[in-house]
Amino acid sequence: MSEKSEPQTNTNQPANALTRRDFLSKSALAGSGVMILPSGTLFGQNTPNNRLNIALIGAHGRAKAHYATLKDENVVALCDVNALNMQFATKEFPNAKTYQDWRKCLDHPGLDAVLCCTTDFTHAWVANWALNRDLHVYMEKPLAITVNEARTVRENYIPKRDKLATQVGMQRHAGANFNRLRELVHDGAIGELKEAYAWGNRQIPKPGYLPDAGIPPETLNHDLWLGPSPYHPYNPDYFNANAGAGCLQWNMYWDFGIGQMGDMGSHTMDLAWNVIDAELPTSIQSKSSEKFNPEVTPVELQASYMFPANDWRGEIRVTWFQGGAMPKSPSNWLDLDKIGHGVMFKGDKGFIVADFGRRLIIPFGDTADLTYYKPRAEEDVLPELGNFQKQWTEACKNGKPAETACNFKYSADMIETMCLGLVSYRAGNKKLAYDGASGKITNNANANAFLTKAYRDGWTMDG
Ligand SMILES: NC(=O)c1ccc[n+]([C@@H]2O[C@H](COP(=O)([O-])OP(=O)(O)OC[C@H]3O[C@@H](n4cnc5c(N)ncnc54)[C@H](O)[C@@H]3O)[C@@H](O)[C@H]2O)c1
Repeated sequence: MSEKSEPQTNTNQPANALTRRDFLSKSALAGSGVMILPSGTLFGQNTPNNRLNIALIGAHGRAKAHYATLKDENVVALCDVNALNMQFATKEFPNAKTYQDWRKCLDHPGLDAVLCCTTDFTHAWVANWALNRDLHVYMEKPLAITVNEARTVRENYIPKRDKLATQVGMQRHAGANFNRLRELVHDGAIGELKEAYAWGNRQIPKPGYLPDAGIPPETLNHDLWLGPSPYHPYNPDYFNANAGAGCLQWNMYWDFGIGQMGDMGSHTMDLAWNVIDAELPTSIQSKSSEKFNPEVTPVELQASYMFPANDWRGEIRVTWFQGGAMPKSPSNWLDLDKIGHGVMFKGDKGFIVADFGRRLIIPFGDTADLTYYKPRAEEDVLPELGNFQKQWTEACKNGKPAETACNFKYSADMIETMCLGLVSYRAGNKKLAYDGASGKITNNANANAFLTKAYRDGWTMDG
């Protein structure tokens, strides 16, 4: 049964699920927290030296959205494979040493932390290398593009969760609607939770890898851009985009990304993930009208996941829809197609339909009189998360590193789940049974091959 206004104690509860009451008592204790970082900086005091020594890897594009936060810290190293992009970053951080190869950048002396905005296919790699060097990490989303990558990051993170602060760039999580949805479902506004749905309508169809367009410009280190990926020849169309939208040029190709699951899926599934307190699914079933293309990820896809019961709800099914696939609306007067990126929760007393900023409760049936729902007391309302990136920089310093909203446990579980939808798709939309403890598909030996991907020789993911 759904609990009413009691706070949850589930171990997978997101950090921002602390009630305001918890938050205030924990904040009082935090005043005594002092931490010494690898750079020798002593924290717990508000001094000008109270700054992290940070490397910014992937220094332009999405990184622009982080410049303001980074200016409150010491950016001591910048890394980019594109000299034209590096120019923008060195204007912002003129004292930083510059690198092209993130492996060398991670060995910059005296680093405390890394903020990484490179291509999706390097994320798990940089994350593992950084964790192995005891560095705090902010990784742009998605954290990984295969099941195996997600699992490796989580395995490296868990033993260090009490000393390293991690965060995945799912910054929409700081929006108030995330907390409001969690409260509504947990407090019983739709009765007992039975099912959840998340969808996104972005469509970026691509026929296949781009043709060889000759020698790359001298300003681009194409070999390092490819990094661990299997070789693909240079083509300018992988790069021609406005800053911050570069990812849309390459994230549809299997060697470079996972399409909408890693793109808007990271944000939109997070709306559901923050509510359901799930770990890993026990079965996965995908559906798509598109034939498997070995070069390009599918545009249209739906993937259903079964999650075991936990201490506040029974077993539930969660389905991700993308590229035109949509859940059925609870009513013919509600056009879900008008909600580009949204979620829906189905309980035994009604539905909640939401996007990043709005939410709608639809009680149904004669007994849906809302007497079963007791909104929580004001002091138990979940506190605002505040600035998302600052939550991470503060967690690096305040002695409570695990308390970021989208840490590598939360985010690895979510992206491992999403990737399993692609595994089912690649296995011919077969229903797969999954053992989360061993990370194996147990009813289809061939599908296990899709838990990982091919990499270039000479690159080590966990180095
Ligand atoms: N959180 C969000 O809302 C959000 C929004 C946009 C992008 N992103 C994510 O940010 C990341 C970057 O996206 P983008 O659109 O800026 O991509 P992009 O292709 O423009 O690359 C960003 C920067 O990284 C550099 N770079 C690429 N590979 C590198 C490597 N191996 N080593 C060092 N530098 C490298 C590029 O030259 C560029 O300066 C992606 O993972 C994307 O999913 C997140």
